[in-house]
Amino acid sequence: MPDIIETRDLRFSYVTEEGVAPVVLDGVSIRIQEGSFVAILGHNGSGKSTLAKCMNAILLPAGGTVYVDGISTADEDRLLEIRRTVGMVFQNPDNQIVANVVEEDVAFAPENLGIPPKEIRQRVDDALRSTGMYEFREHAPHLLSGGQKQRVAIAGVIAMQPRCIVLDEPTAMLDPVGRRDVLRTIRALNRERGVTVVLITHHMDEAAQADRLIVMARGHVVADGTPKQVFSDVEGLEAVGLTVPHTTRLLWELRQEGLPVPLDALSDEECARALADLLRSGWKPGPARTS
Ligand SMILES: Nc1ncnc2c1ncn2[C@@H]1O[C@H](COP(=O)(O)OP(=O)(O)OP(=O)(O)O)[C@@H](O)[C@H]1O
Ligand SMILES: [Mg+2]
Repeated sequence: MPDIIETRDLRFSYVTEEGVAPVVLDGVSIRIQEGSFVAILGHNGSGKSTLAKCMNAILLPAGGTVYVDGISTADEDRLLEIRRTVGMVFQNPDNQIVANVVEEDVAFAPENLGIPPKEIRQRVDDALRSTGMYEFREHAPHLLSGGQKQRVAIAGVIAMQPRCIVLDEPTAMLDPVGRRDVLRTIRALNRERGVTVVLITHHMDEAAQADRLIVMARGHVVADGTPKQVFSDVEGLEAVGLTVPHTTRLLWELRQEGLPVPLDALSDEECARALADLLRSGWKPGPARTS
């Protein structure tokens, strides 16, 4: 699969009134394959949102280049193509709602693109179905739950038919049910429709569902691999202020005590199986540590 997004030695600083602020992205080079589901993790202020905004030309590089489907985001003449290719979803669903009826909200962006009304109708219905919000199409968005609002926001982006969707902490303001529904929607867009997903999150359980995990710290990529690979480096992640999923943490602590368990049993089921295998293997505890 070709790359839908590539950043090459991307550098960025916010220019503030007092002059140039510290470097926020310091030579970030990543390639995101079309059709993949990539999660980006990192401590507060590590540059994740800045990176996301560079992925659809909301921000332009101060150094290096960002390519969207091979087009440099600095190419002003192709801004529309870039924005159509990569859609963005932000943290606060209330800031993303623009109309008083759900289906009008979802139709807003395609209407602005000048798409014929008949096609808009199809796209809106399709986007609402794919986010599980079709039955709410005539509702007032402000009366919906946070998770439902966020799914309407995602439907609004989907109606633009982007090939890639970048979501910056879309579940940060949601309750557990809203979080689960939004994640399910995102996963289905990726698996069933082949939409490339870049998900920025602070939730380890969400990151664990991606095909690939990129960890940012101080404007650099400090880890990049499958969730199992990345989470296995417990000390490396803790050094950049991140915790690991509770499964990995438990297995890691057992290994510190000398127990022969794998570190990459990430899901609850895999972790339980690893512990059952250990017990079945005839492993016996050694003398208890006194320290
Ligand atoms: N508009 C801005 N003007 C000046 N500095 C900014 C601006 N936006 C972000 N920064 C600074 O840039 C750095 C990176 O911010 P960014 O929002 O990209 O981090 P983040 O990883 O998304 O953090 P969080 O997890 O808190 O969302 C931080 O030090 C932040 O204070
Ligand atoms: Mg952020």
